[in-house]
Amino acid sequence: MTVITNIEDLRVLAQRRVPRMFYDYADSGSWTEGTYRANSEDFQRIKLRQRVAVNMEGRSTATTMVGVPVAMPVALAPVGSTGMQHADGEILAARAAEKFGVPFTLSTMSICSIEDVAANTTKPFWFQLYVMRDRAFSQRLIERAKAAKCGALVLTLDLQILGQRHKDLKNGLSVPPKPTLGSLANLATKPRWILGMAGTKRRQFGNIVGHVQGVSDMSSLSQWTADQFDPTLNWGDVEWIKKHWGGKLILKGIQDVEDAKLAVASGADALIVSNHGGRQLDGAQSSIGALPAIVDAVGSQIEVHMDGGIRSGQDVLKARALGARGCYIGRAFIYGLGAMGEAGVTTALQVIHKELDLTMAFCGRTRIEQVGKDILLPGTFPT
Ligand code: FNR
Repeated sequence: MTVITNIEDLRVLAQRRVPRMFYDYADSGSWTEGTYRANSEDFQRIKLRQRVAVNMEGRSTATTMVGVPVAMPVALAPVGSTGMQHADGEILAARAAEKFGVPFTLSTMSICSIEDVAANTTKPFWFQLYVMRDRAFSQRLIERAKAAKCGALVLTLDLQILGQRHKDLKNGLSVPPKPTLGSLANLATKPRWILGMAGTKRRQFGNIVGHVQGVSDMSSLSQWTADQFDPTLNWGDVEWIKKHWGGKLILKGIQDVEDAKLAVASGADALIVSNHGGRQLDGAQSSIGALPAIVDAVGSQIEVHMDGGIRSGQDVLKARALGARGCYIGRAFIYGLGAMGEAGVTTALQVIHKELDLTMAFCGRTRIEQVGKDILLPGTFPT
């Protein structure tokens, strides 16, 4: 087997091991996928300033995100159906994150439930909330996250409606999946994945199935989810959620300065500059492109985090230099999970940490707190 040295190696391995339907679900964006690609490509345009003859001993990438100590300014992003990339995927990813010292964020649309993950970890993880039309269900989810002692609530604001993802439509990805002949033939070539799934009981959306009246299996779930994402979601709901949750609140999916100001007014602890990994509004600018204006406008009043397109520790460093206190990785850890389960997520985190640490040192900094815009070459970064 090839030695894994970067995230791309994990992606290639995941593509080999995960059924195409679920691999494509992760490795795709909406419509033309222009925003999905721009998220990564715009990082490549930003150039670093190399410094030399600086004492590089005693380096540290440790910092905090919403007051939580982190080994590096990285958290695992909420990813729906993580448990379809690898059996028990959410538990494995949460364990890898816990051992590494970074937060794991469990999606509302996870396969393993809040309680499953809590029972298999020892430190608080974060919970991501989608607001559903059934507000009583949303409230119960908040109560369950509280009971599981989740450390922060990540409220996603950019999915009131679903972006058109052409690959998913072509593959017949739905709840429950309606595989095409092609995807069934492809499934037959993934024995490792099939064996893993056969060995676990957790193959349903555990936060939902059994927790909503009448939703007891995948087909009743499909009816329920079809009309549950709430197009009426508004800032009044954010206030309602903040009151019910009472803990640290992070607002995810901010791309515009005006929305960033509303996020500050809502009293949230942090906002995440995000376009949902290019899965919602195709044609929107990249996250790293949107970041500087938002940091300029509200960075002194709220913690600004970002996600989208991070595939290396260099990307994390560039985001930090442009004012993001922390970053979230989605596909970078999903590729690791699909490739090698928990060990793959650990490898993804190690790869990113090593790249972050070395690049920081080459830029003449020994602590993440010393990283600012001045490590970037003028004229190569968005302002
Ligand atoms: C996501 N994302 C997401 N976000 C969220 O708030 N709730 C969710 O359930 C999901 N589900 C989901 C599934 C998959 C397969 C992907 C790839 C992404 C978005 C995610 O949290 C994050 O914003 C992006 O993944 C960041 O971009 P990168 O790191 O994947 O490029």
